[in-house]
Amino acid sequence: MRKSSIIALSCLLVMPVNMLAAQELMSDAQDLFEPIPAEPPALEGNALTPEKVELGKMLYFEPRLSESHTISCNTCHQIGMGGVDMLETSRGHRWQAGGRNAPTVLNSVFNTAQFWDGRAADLAEQAGGPMVNPVEMASTTTHVVEQLKGIPGYDAYFKSAFPDDPDPINLPNAEKAIAVFETTLITPNAPFDKFLKGDETALTDMQKEGLQAFMDNGCATCHNGVNVGGNMYQPFGVVENPGAEFLPPDDKGRFQVTASVDDEYVFKVPTLRNIALTPPYFHTGKSWDLHQAVAVMGSSQLGITLSDDEVAKITAFLDSLTGDQPQIVYPTLPPSVATTPRPMP
Ligand code: HEM
Ligand code: HEM
Repeated sequence: MRKSSIIALSCLLVMPVNMLAAQELMSDAQDLFEPIPAEPPALEGNALTPEKVELGKMLYFEPRLSESHTISCNTCHQIGMGGVDMLETSRGHRWQAGGRNAPTVLNSVFNTAQFWDGRAADLAEQAGGPMVNPVEMASTTTHVVEQLKGIPGYDAYFKSAFPDDPDPINLPNAEKAIAVFETTLITPNAPFDKFLKGDETALTDMQKEGLQAFMDNGCATCHNGVNVGGNMYQPFGVVENPGAEFLPPDDKGRFQVTASVDDEYVFKVPTLRNIALTPPYFHTGKSWDLHQAVAVMGSSQLGITLSDDEVAKITAFLDSLTGDQPQIVYPTLPPSVATTPRPMP
């Protein structure tokens, strides 16, 4: 047989096998994961309107909600940096270091609960927390409302976002508006989403091998669903304690919420969406290298030592979880006037 015919014949034999394998991989993945939708998901009892999104965006970027007038949500969850601050633990009021790494706000609407320990049920409940947290924005509930009422320009924005409310400037409405804005912070069209929707070419061969390893090794038992995580609680160190650097004994995670011994060192399984954009890793923020975080997961959660090659492939797969980043037009915030409460030192 001529050389060219042999090549043609072997292509015919090999291609269908590769295609079959890719299709099997795709269908296994479709059973475990879902693509990020193109449109923001609806929140129960908190309809999305353009006016609410606009107000929520203003409040998200509003530093005057903090006691010092210097810290906004965006300080710790920078939309241009994957929704995080890229610090081990955040710096808040008076440069205080917080106790945990700031998780991303991107796609947080898909998490079943908020915070590493799930102590807030949803985004609206979550949004009130940092404004009044002494190491974050350090305001009091009354200060937040006085501040917003003290900036005359906000009146019209609250009225159009909450037209049925006779006195719309209050903390629950501010939380609702921020929550609706956060639902728009989703990142569709990651290569992995395209693959899940049927495009076999969306992942490189290495990423496909990484996806296979991610499923075969059991990572997807915990990191699954639309957010590739965010939908359950699990102990950090199921099989092997990852060591005090990553899991210091004083932060017992979900135990702080439930006081149940079963919840000691239990944390919300974090989303792996956009994970390549959000170092450092873990609730302590002590791992600056995604390869290292993957290897630690192998030993601590699965009791296996992943080879460098497997770690590289899984990390390549995790790169395919980076989607379209939100394109935000920075809001113009209404000016303070002579009677607006002043910043506190
Ligand atoms: C957690 C939003 C302000 C630091 C979160 C989460 C969301 C969020 C949605 C939960 C994400 C998840 O569990 O996956 C907001 C909003 C803010 C705000 C809307 C403004 C109202 C801040 C500020 C800081 C900060 C100013 C830093 C000083 C953190 C940290 C966590 C967190 C450290 C994790 C805390 C824990 O799990 O115990 N934030 N955030 N946030 N945020 Fe913020
Ligand atoms: C955290 C990947 C297996 C539960 C993480 C992080 C990554 C990751 C990259 C850091 C996320 C961040 O800081 O934002 C993987 C990989 C796995 C795997 C590649 C397979 C080799 C598992 C399994 C479970 C699990 C099987 C559940 C038994 C968790 C938990 C955290 C986490 C609870 C948070 C740890 C903390 O408190 O900081 N995973 N994971 N993971 N994963 Fe996994």
